[in-house]
Amino acid sequence: MKIGVPKETEASEKRVALVPETISKLVKLGFEVLVETGAGSGSYYPDHLYQESGASLASDPSVLFGKSEMIVRVQKPSLKEVDSYPPKTVLIAFLQPLLNLDLVKRLADREITAFSMDAIPRISRAQSMDTLSSMSSAAGYKAVLLAAQELPRFFPLLMTAAGTMTPAKVFVIGAGVAGLQAIATARRLGAVVEAFDTRPAVKEQVESLGAKFAEIAWKLNEKQSQDAGGYAKELSDEHQKKEMELIAQKVKESDVIITTALIPGKKAPVLITEEMVKEMKPGSVIVDLAAEMGGNCSLTKPGEKVSIHEIKIIGLLNLPSLLSSHASLMYSRNLFSFLSLLTKNGKLNLDWSDEIISGACIVHEGKIKSEPVKQKLLQTEAVQTEAKGTR
Ligand code: NAI
Repeated sequence: MKIGVPKETEASEKRVALVPETISKLVKLGFEVLVETGAGSGSYYPDHLYQESGASLASDPSVLFGKSEMIVRVQKPSLKEVDSYPPKTVLIAFLQPLLNLDLVKRLADREITAFSMDAIPRISRAQSMDTLSSMSSAAGYKAVLLAAQELPRFFPLLMTAAGTMTPAKVFVIGAGVAGLQAIATARRLGAVVEAFDTRPAVKEQVESLGAKFAEIAWKLNEKQSQDAGGYAKELSDEHQKKEMELIAQKVKESDVIITTALIPGKKAPVLITEEMVKEMKPGSVIVDLAAEMGGNCSLTKPGEKVSIHEIKIIGLLNLPSLLSSHASLMYSRNLFSFLSLLTKNGKLNLDWSDEIISGACIVHEGKIKSEPVKQKLLQTEAVQTEAKGTR
């Protein structure tokens, strides 16, 4: 099977889907790999390393698409790019299908078999393929470094000839994969860290990293706080109000706030208001990792770093791309594990009874396979029909 690795086309994207280390392994397993010239330059994997790993180079992406039976990417392709794939091409990328229904429809029209890395079920057997976790780790780490860069104070406690410098106080909202990595990184830099999450299950993990878990007046049990996949459920208005009272107290005391609170398929909950920002110590920093879904702070500008009421609010998107070399290595290793499941003896071998394969497949042979995507399409069509009826 021939695998094509195009250069990512989105302006902010520095990662590459496969690095030379993985390509050597694929070549040994009998795959042919074609890499677009310069595909690894943003993540510091030069062309000659790809050639040494056994890949061939193609300077023209249309040649690469024409020759490849499988295309692997980080970001979703454009509709125009999909039109240049021969029918039956296999595509693997971060497709975010529920947010990109037009793309899903086009992939089905073109009879592409598409797998989305973000749809791989978060089960133990799939841990080595879990790009959501790999990229969240990279984002959590980088978020703390961005905050440290902007904060006009030290992170660690320093005993100097000029006296003692007290350590920075960091408050992390949402202790999922990104939040836990942020806690670990802030601790390594010597900050005093406190965190809160609506899922009580994470209290122990927070404490094991040397941070304090903020206590709140209400307690949700596991069933109330998370769904079967381990993701947080949306809070009731009353619980959210109480959480915001807690956050209002914590933000006043903190030098750095890292927010990561997300509810799958929904806009991020707004937990930090302008009033709270006004109460923060001047020079403090907020890094809003939920910016892509609107942000946890009402003043966050997705994609930007702003300074409002003397507080830096960082809403930069795609933080893993700022760590392009290691983020690509992690993505590439995750992809290798996934490819090992999808193929046998260098050929596609799709066992639909495998929940990882069936869960990650969005489109196959012109049909939409993903149940959540089918449901979303039906809902969207119903809304459109209703809108036409009321005109
Ligand atoms: P995420 O990115 O969807 O959410 C981030 C965090 O925000 C979560 O911890 C969530 O509980 C929290 N949150 C949501 N609303 C909040 C609010 N109002 N206030 C405070 N916190 C709030 O989650 P992520 O990091 O992708 O992982 C979520 C869970 O997925 C994990 O904790 C785990 O249960 C499961 N998982 C399972 C894996 C496996 O291999 N079995 C691997 C990775 C994750």
